[in-house]
Order: sequence, then structure tokens, then C-alpha cells
Amino acid sequence: MEMNKRDGAAKIPGTNERETELQLKYIEDCASLIRQKYPSGMTYFIQNEGCQMNNLQTETVAGMIRDMGCTPADSEENADVVIFNTCTVRENANQKIYGRLGRLKSVKRSHPDMKIVLFGCMMQEEHVVKKIRQSYRFVDLVFGTHNMHKFPELFLHSLHSDSQIIDIWTDSDQIIEGLPVDRKYSFKTGVNIMFGCNNFCSYCIVPYVRGREKSREPQAILREIEDLAAHGVTEVMLLGQNVNSYGKTLETPVTFASLLREVEKIDGIKRIRFMTSHPKDLSDELIDVMSHSTKICHHLHLPMQSGSSRILKLMNRHYDKEKYLNLVSKIRTAVPDISLTTDIIVGFPSETEEDFRETLEVVEKSNFDTAFTFIYSKRTGTPAARMEDQVPEDVVKERFGRLLNLVQEKGRENSSRFTGTVQEVLVEEENREQGLLTGRTEYNLLVHFPGDKSLIGSYVKVRMDECKGFYYFGSIPEEN
Ligand code: 5AD
Ligand code: SF4
Repeated sequence: MEMNKRDGAAKIPGTNERETELQLKYIEDCASLIRQKYPSGMTYFIQNEGCQMNNLQTETVAGMIRDMGCTPADSEENADVVIFNTCTVRENANQKIYGRLGRLKSVKRSHPDMKIVLFGCMMQEEHVVKKIRQSYRFVDLVFGTHNMHKFPELFLHSLHSDSQIIDIWTDSDQIIEGLPVDRKYSFKTGVNIMFGCNNFCSYCIVPYVRGREKSREPQAILREIEDLAAHGVTEVMLLGQNVNSYGKTLETPVTFASLLREVEKIDGIKRIRFMTSHPKDLSDELIDVMSHSTKICHHLHLPMQSGSSRILKLMNRHYDKEKYLNLVSKIRTAVPDISLTTDIIVGFPSETEEDFRETLEVVEKSNFDTAFTFIYSKRTGTPAARMEDQVPEDVVKERFGRLLNLVQEKGRENSSRFTGTVQEVLVEEENREQGLLTGRTEYNLLVHFPGDKSLIGSYVKVRMDECKGFYYFGSIPEEN
């Protein structure tokens, strides 16, 4: 689907339109070189690791390579170009990439023209780039999070050259609008509203690899969503590391709640989601907008990270256990049917059994529909990595197991409240099990049900017959 071509409308402050034009020109240059060098066509395989924001950048690079005339390959072994967008939030994400590169090395031996491209968060780390320079010479092109828009220019150089090209920026104050995007679904999509992060949670590498927080201008966001709606998108997910602080750094500051009010006015948009909310910045204004909106989904992802006030302080989260619990109860009072989800880290340095029990207590009281649980991962360069008293692995694993049991039990219990109800779902795709469609309720619950695939992309009333934990089996009621 192609929908992001700019329409010559007025310039938006803070954006670099000349850079967009330049890169669109490089896409054309790549296209004509590819036609010459690969007369039977060039294929690509692109893979995303990490969060939804990364995924949107993956879809942008996919849009650019598609516009160069390349077509998707069925596997990475058969592709002429293999592209990985990397994540570094936890060490296992890094290990995964090194593993895949190890396997690709032998594939490239029998396919020497293959181009291997790495970009994204992991590439913003000096020690990673050093390792690629020294031990992964067969990687052709490396760039980071701040210059992703330069992919066409860098790829053109790479097509002309056999040497390894590495271009990493440490930060950028530019926002590049209007690049092509190859979206997975034609009816729902993510929309970046801001980039970077200023929070510096002590365990987190994101501020170092994504740079300082910068918001897109509301006009640019609204214009993009209007354009998406005009092309059939009905559900948007507004994306940022901390959407609750959206707009604070703009020349004319605006609040996230006021942006939501404007998005709500756009015809054709039926559902609005957003991610991620930091509890310290979740305003009463936002809760009020959510409670009055007919389009904002009643689902809130509110990472708690820990239930211990002592650990939250060490994490630099700027809230404590009581404030988190109060926030949960305030939201539930204003939006009684809200579905709450969260992220929790186990084994932060110095976490005691007592601290951990407070995490269990908050899980017990908060009634999350889903909680994503993570074992603390030491990230070089963050303050927590320098903290003494790292928790032994066997203790962390034991706590992690207990937490997982509780969140699964609570999740099942909470999700089952919809059993027997009829919910409106947006039908997303055909399920692997033949004949079943998969849709999502406004509460972000998945439901599989029999139906015709012509329903994909539309809203259908589905009865939630059987709760399977974090998903349901359902059916379309007769009268539908
Ligand atoms: N170790 C473990 N989990 C982490 N997260 C972020 N940094 C780390 C880390 N160093 C988790 C947080 C965040 C989610 C996206 O990843 O819970 O909310
Ligand atoms: Fe991973 Fe964080 Fe980068 Fe997202 S922003 S890809 S979670 S490191």
C-alpha cells in the first residue's frame, strides 16, 4: 500500500523536507541501478526485532526498498538483500542477532552478491559496531536510529561498492516526514508521534540509543492520519516511548490529551490506541479525555516495573507503590471497563524477597489483563549496570517463575470477564487453523472465530464463547 507521498502542502516547522526529496531521488537512482544490475529482479528479506516503534521504522525501510522495485523473498537464504532492524533493550535481543549473522555468513559464501544490512537500536552502541567491524566483515551496510531515512543514499553507495559501509549518528534534532511505508495491514497502523526518551530509567538503554525526546508537530501527525483514513485505515496506534509527555518540547507546547481530541475528530478513524504511558506523566486531563471519547480504546498499557517503592526509586521512575495503585484506582473509577496491561522487571540490583513480594502484591491488587514480565538485563552504560548487589541468577529465575504463575492466573481470571458477551472486533487476518478468522476487541483481546476472509479489515460483532487465557474462541451470533 502506498499512501505517504507528500502533497505539496505547507511546510511544517521542525521538519526537513529537502532531505525527504533527496532520499526520494535516491530511491529512483537505486531503482535504475537495480534494473541494470539485476535484470531478473532483486529480492529482499526484512525482519524486525523489538518494539512497535522499531516496527514502524522497519515498515519504512521496507517501503523504501519496495519503491526501488525490489520484491519480498520467501526466506532470508533466498534473498538478494537481508535487512535486520535490531533491538538492544535486553541482552538476549543482541545475542539473537549475532546468532543469525553467524548463520548468514555461510549462506553468503554461496551467494557472494548478497547484501546484508543492519540498522536500529543495537547499532547505536559503540561496542557492537566495533565487533561488526572486526568480526563480521561480510556485513555490507550499517546505520542507526537517527539516520534511518538515509537508507536509499547509503544503499546506493553499497550497490556501487564491495566494502563495508558504516554510518551512525549520535543524535539528531531533525524529523523527516513523508517517507514511503510498506504497512502490514491496510486498515490499521502505528503512527509515530514522538521519538527518543528523556526519562533515564536507570536500567534502560533506550535514551542512549534513541536520543533526546522530540515530538512531531501536531499538524504533521493529523495530516498523516487524515491521509491514512482517506486510504482506508480505521485504527491508529499513536506511538512514543512516553506518549504522556508528548508536545512538551514543541515551540508551541501542546498536551497529549489535546492531540487525542484532534485525532478523535478525523472522519473514518474508528479506533485510537496509544503506547507507552509512563505513570509519572499520566494526567487527569488524559483520563478525562479517555472517559469521554467514543474512539479511544479502553485499554491502557501502564508499565509498573516494580511494586517496591525502594526499587522504583533506584529505577528513577518518579512514582512509588502508593502512587501507582492510586493511579490504577483513579483510572478504573473514570473508565470502569478499562483493560490494564503492564511491564514488570524481576531481579533489579539489590531486589530483596521483601521487595519482590510487594511486586506480587501490586499485581494481586491491580487486576491486569496481561503483564509482560522480564528478567533484569544489565545494559552497559546505564546507571543500574554499575550498581552493586546484582541479584544471583538462580534467585531471579525462582522469582520470575512465581511472578509468571501469578500474572497468568490473574490474567486468565480478568480476561474471562468477557465470557458470553458480544464484542465488536476488528478482523485482522485468517488464522492458521483453516476457516478461523482472528480479530481484536477494543480491549486488545484476540478472538478466533469461524467466518469468511472477506470480513478482514471490517468490524464484526462476535460472541466471546470460551476464554483461553489471553485469547478467546468466539462465534458470530445468528442475528449479526
Ligand atoms: N532489563 C529487563 N527489562 C527491561 N526493560 C527495559 N530495560 C530493561 C532491562 N535492562 C523492559 C521494561 C520496559 C520494556 C519495554 O522492557 O519493562 O517497559
Ligand atoms: Fe528495543 Fe527499546 Fe529500541 Fe524499541 S526503543 S527497539 S525496545 S531498544
